[in-house]
Amino acid sequence: MTATAPLWTGLVEGLAEQGVLSQQWRATFLAVPRELFIPEVIWRYAGDELVPLRRGDEPQEWLRRAYGPRYVVTQVDDGSPAGPEGRGRVATSSASRPDIVALMLEAGHVEPGMRVLEIGTGTGYTAALLAEHLGARNVTSIEIDPDLAARARAALERAGYREVTVIIGDGARGYPGGAPFDRVLSTVAAPQVPYAWVAQARRGGLVITPWGSAYKPAGLLSLTVGPEGAATGGLVNTTISFMELRDQRIPRAAITDLVRETDTPERSHTDLHASHLCNDDDALFAIAIQVPGCHWEHEHTTGDDDRWCVWFLDATTRSWARFDYQPDTRRWPIPQFGPRRLFDEVAAAYHRWDHAGRPPVARWRFTVTPDGQRVELADDAPGGKAGASRRPPD
Ligand SMILES: C[S@@+](CC[C@H](N)C(=O)[O-])C[C@H]1O[C@@H](n2cnc3c(N)ncnc32)[C@H](O)[C@@H]1O
Repeated sequence: MTATAPLWTGLVEGLAEQGVLSQQWRATFLAVPRELFIPEVIWRYAGDELVPLRRGDEPQEWLRRAYGPRYVVTQVDDGSPAGPEGRGRVATSSASRPDIVALMLEAGHVEPGMRVLEIGTGTGYTAALLAEHLGARNVTSIEIDPDLAARARAALERAGYREVTVIIGDGARGYPGGAPFDRVLSTVAAPQVPYAWVAQARRGGLVITPWGSAYKPAGLLSLTVGPEGAATGGLVNTTISFMELRDQRIPRAAITDLVRETDTPERSHTDLHASHLCNDDDALFAIAIQVPGCHWEHEHTTGDDDRWCVWFLDATTRSWARFDYQPDTRRWPIPQFGPRRLFDEVAAAYHRWDHAGRPPVARWRFTVTPDGQRVELADDAPGGKAGASRRPPD
């Protein structure tokens, strides 16, 4: 390791002290140098865009990021920067935040002797941690992008984990040739968990994956594979957020791209304050599963702290709604445009959740079968029969 090693040691010890990392994983994190997996060119944000940061130009800054607590963007726009002058628009691969990698590994109860399938090789760093912990032969990792897979393979080889199996392919299909696995661990979000992951995990095994929806992008899902081959479980964390599987990317339109001056919205009013719809994790989740495809954005009206709005947007049907906050009233205007009445949908979903006794995220059960994914309130939950369950979009 380099002179930056103390930075990393401090970070890892901090995670261990906070209880994020067990002693066994602490040793593994200290044994694998993250910098071996970070490419020479990484990307950093400049406003809304991403610009390259080259190790050769800024070695100290590069190292600080390689051993830092943040995620490191390692690819933009699927490898072809889409912005002007080689700038990137969207991060499409990254070395995940070390604390989140730790959280996922711990949530997966990954223990020596197990065989693990990782979805989303990215830099190869998580695969290397798994290899250090379990033995490289017990680790298979799938990456959809051939260039990233080649880079990860080379890094794993350099770091001494040549025997990790890196597959180029669509991770949503898993890797039947290597099944059954004790754990399927995805480092890319799956709004709809592919049944292949369940089918390829052994009975009693776990599928761990970031989950996300348009309305609530974050969460970590833990599913246990039952004797009948279905997997059930729920969110064990509601804050972590990941890029989605390529085929499950959620369309999110910028307000300026979606809303046109010529749009003629229908106008109504509400006494439901938008803070109820956008702050509480439990409400966000309940709305997310009932109102598919809708995302929201908060916007400040320039120069006036007392005036702001929340946009509700659906890029697929070009529908939008706006909650216009104004002080000194309890009846706020709602313009709505497009085939969907998004505010009405969101408000109805909120009320259903409220009438069901405001069930917390932990009370919602995910079930994944060959027929798809269901999300519903567990029967033992207060209000569990109240009908606040809805099958998300296929
Ligand atoms: C957050 S990164 C993974 C980080 C990685 N585990 C690491 O340690 O560097 C997500 C990766 O998933 C990949 N990916 C996206 N969709 C995929 C799919 N359908 N199958 C396999 N990989 C996919 C992306 O190309 C990206 O490299």
